[in-house]
Amino acid sequence: MAAAMLADARARGLLDPDPIHDVVPDETTEAEVIFARSGPVRTGRETNTVLQIAKDAGLWIPSSCNFGLCCTCRI
Ligand code: FES
Repeated sequence: MAAAMLADARARGLLDPDPIHDVVPDETTEAEVIFARSGPVRTGRETNTVLQIAKDAGLWIPSSCNFGLCCTCRI
């Protein structure tokens, strides 16, 4: 489903049709995410979205597609 959404977004001109490279997330790579305004610090994997990490931390952020296309979660 994700690949289809990306292809659709590229076809509609919403994404760079010729990206320099595709990034392949590494499930083993982790990073610390600090939600500075609300306080939680969480560890996420490269395969997690910041939105998902925020939701897992109990933070409420408006969202719709949960995929990075609609900008509903943009803060
Ligand atoms: S919910 Fe974040 S871009 Fe759609």
